Amino acid sequence: MKTLQSCEIIFIFLILFAAKLVAQSQGINYDEAKVPQYTLPDPLVLASGKKVENAKIWWKKRRPEILKLFAEQVYGKVPGKLKEVEFKVLSVDEKALNGLATRKQVSVLFTGKENGPKMDILIYIPNDRQKPVPTFVGLNFYGNQTIDKDPAILITKSWVQNNKSLGITDHKATEATRGVRAQRWPVEKILKRGYALATAYYGDIDPDFDDGFQNGVHPLFYKKGQKKPAADEWGSISAWAWGLSRAMDYFETDADIDQNHVAVMGHSRLGKTALWAGARDQRFALVISNDSGCGGAALSRRWYGETVERINKRFPHWFCTNFKKYNNNEDALPVDQHELIALIAPRPVYIATAQDDRWADPKGMFLAAKNAAPVYRLLGMPGMPEDATMQLYRPIMSTIGFHLRAGGHDVKLYDWERFMDFADIHWQGKE
Ligand code: GCU
Repeated sequence: MKTLQSCEIIFIFLILFAAKLVAQSQGINYDEAKVPQYTLPDPLVLASGKKVENAKIWWKKRRPEILKLFAEQVYGKVPGKLKEVEFKVLSVDEKALNGLATRKQVSVLFTGKENGPKMDILIYIPNDRQKPVPTFVGLNFYGNQTIDKDPAILITKSWVQNNKSLGITDHKATEATRGVRAQRWPVEKILKRGYALATAYYGDIDPDFDDGFQNGVHPLFYKKGQKKPAADEWGSISAWAWGLSRAMDYFETDADIDQNHVAVMGHSRLGKTALWAGARDQRFALVISNDSGCGGAALSRRWYGETVERINKRFPHWFCTNFKKYNNNEDALPVDQHELIALIAPRPVYIATAQDDRWADPKGMFLAAKNAAPVYRLLGMPGMPEDATMQLYRPIMSTIGFHLRAGGHDVKLYDWERFMDFADIHWQGKE
């Protein structure tokens, strides 16, 4: 019998690979012509059908309406407050990064106990400062130690996602992970531009896997006999956003941080989280979403790239149970993601996207940003120029900021430089 030649094996392999790609892409729309007709809910019309005619009605009626819908139908509401939260300053080093910064590491003890659940915040504050400094805060994916090679950063002891390329194989972060994500966190550049940077590991708040909400902060809120959040109670994104608000609680106690100028930033699932954190908690003075996509800044009704059904099936723990009602049923959603951006108004919000990140639907994010603008205008802010278009490397720097860069799903120096330009413009009046 004839044995297969190596070129035949390669050919068969290629056929199988192509078949797999076709199967995988079935049902995923990347064709602008196939985007369905849709009508977006109007952020400036009340549930009663009445128009929102002035800022007062927005603040008193419409904003609470939209916020409630996102809380109960999308991300899930936070069931209460923890009375026992305490902060413990673990270390302060005024000569960190060769004297450039003061490094603080602070534990947020969720139950007031050192051996209980906690989130560690790493903060770099520029030493070249005369007064409290404006600050960027963002969650990270693999532990604080990944954002810089600095040997003094505490390595997270929490569960982390395995990642062979980062050398994580048994859900434990190791020394080898120091600085592996430094590319995404240009710490020195941020400090040299006069900003502080704070970060915490999202898995300290809730490990990112579906365990029926037995670990993380959810059980701390269960009523007697409760085993999982109710259908309108929080999933993981809402828990991560809650954690960001606890970081904000700490900033309010730290005299080196300008608590009136804290920007919350996040990438991808953590970009969704940053938007929800900024919508819920108005202490965040500026909000930045990087490649946040479905359930973040992208319109759900466009059905381009990731859809509500796909995200709910692959990540059943991210949103609340109610959100699953909208699988393949986006038109029934009482809100769309432009209204999440509108909840941030009149505060500056920046939506960053990348051309090859089609899964996250850059155009859907641009349209959401644009459709949030009427709320900004109602509140007396420019929002986004009505004739604005999405163009490669042409950032929009109005109260709603936006950019599209080349490349894929990632955080690049280009992104950070625009975030800092945006903060300079809105906070320091720079052109
Ligand atoms: C997946 C998911 C996205 C998410 C991304 C990330 O791709 O489908 O919704 O934004 O992971 O967080 O990296």
